[in-house]
Amino acid sequence: MRFENTHLKRNNFILKQEGLAKLYLHKNDSVSIPSKSMNVFYNEKMEINRDISILAIKAYNNIFYQEPLEIVDCMSGTGVTSLRLLKNSINIEKIYINDINPVAVNLIEKNLELNDIASNRIALSNKDANLLFTEISQKNRLPDVISIDPFGTPNIYVDSAFKAIKKNDGLMCITATDTAVLFGVRPKACIRKYMSKPIHSEYCKEVGARILLYFISRIANINNSGITPLLTFYSNHFIRVFALTYRGKTRIQENSLNSYGYLIHCKKCGYRTIISEYRLGNPHVCPLCLNNDDLYYSGPLWIKEIHQKLFLDEITRLNEQLAIKNKKRFDKLINYALQEINMPISYYNIHKLCQQLKLSYIPKLDNLINLIKENGYRASRTHFDFLSIKTNMRIDDFKSLLSQIEK
Ligand SMILES: C[S@@+](CC[C@H](N)C(=O)[O-])C[C@H]1O[C@@H](n2cnc3c(N)ncnc32)[C@H](O)[C@@H]1O
Repeated sequence: MRFENTHLKRNNFILKQEGLAKLYLHKNDSVSIPSKSMNVFYNEKMEINRDISILAIKAYNNIFYQEPLEIVDCMSGTGVTSLRLLKNSINIEKIYINDINPVAVNLIEKNLELNDIASNRIALSNKDANLLFTEISQKNRLPDVISIDPFGTPNIYVDSAFKAIKKNDGLMCITATDTAVLFGVRPKACIRKYMSKPIHSEYCKEVGARILLYFISRIANINNSGITPLLTFYSNHFIRVFALTYRGKTRIQENSLNSYGYLIHCKKCGYRTIISEYRLGNPHVCPLCLNNDDLYYSGPLWIKEIHQKLFLDEITRLNEQLAIKNKKRFDKLINYALQEINMPISYYNIHKLCQQLKLSYIPKLDNLINLIKENGYRASRTHFDFLSIKTNMRIDDFKSLLSQIEK
């Protein structure tokens, strides 16, 4: 397919480098604030989203499927992620590069030429992502990897994406940028879009990520698939989920269905707990402060692990090898994500908690974690919030500990 490059005059562009890929951007796009109204969408600050995608796809190829990959990049913009995947010598048999915006597709063609990428592995198209997925789902060979990177919510693409992806050991990569919805600033919109009630609390980022996982998993289930989250990544106002697909009704019933539950949060004392079922009118009294007025529930949400250690270890290893700009930041984020495994849901923002307790001394987080461990509890950092810690210590005991430190 050849796209008309009628208005692509050389002096209308600037040249940029991201990772190993060279990129043309429309000149006026390069000076505007990233928005839908750009000629072709490109957000420099989202480089971290593309970095993590490259690391995750390479890690998937090394661990779960060691054959040449078929990948669908259905919302490519400038084509930057695909270009970087191709330039990072990821083992690719075929890559679908698509965008609904015809100006974007013209630019992608130009960017492929700029990077000397031969067309034999590329399927370039200008379609609605759902139409592309429907067409792909008819093929004999289903893609190994699908990436969805929309403006805002991915919700309307997830169903057709599960129809198109390989049913076993496929890698689904999904971004959501509608964080105000998932983090409970717009709770009604969250119920409408994700069929789940959010909570606007200090740990709403984790709950939002778990609501997104719940939604993706439920849509997988109705397509006779299940998912295993490999990495659930939050940064810079986006959540990106990397999940492995599996099939089999029994496995779905055993693994997926007991991964859904609810969060109960006492707005008076901050007590929180997870339950696997929410029954009408239950529970109604906070077991800690006996408040029966302000007990809030959130969900349904994903209540099992949101990362796999094997996958995160491989990402850490690859971060050393691949052309990634934010290496140090990644090491920190992935290290904190690793610490989240086997820890309870939710976290405590230490600054807010000290403020609430009117404490003037804010302990160093790593010292606090050591102290909690010395008291016989578990504690860790969290990648969702660098000022917070996770612990299985009850909130009243935790508050007492903070007060004792001040004394
Ligand atoms: C947030 S941008 C992602 C850009 C790219 N992935 C990147 O990292 O720079 C979303 C892109 O999806 C495209 N898009 C929006 N709706 C679409 C649809 N229904 N089907 C295919 N592409 C779509 C837009 O034109 C835009 O280029």
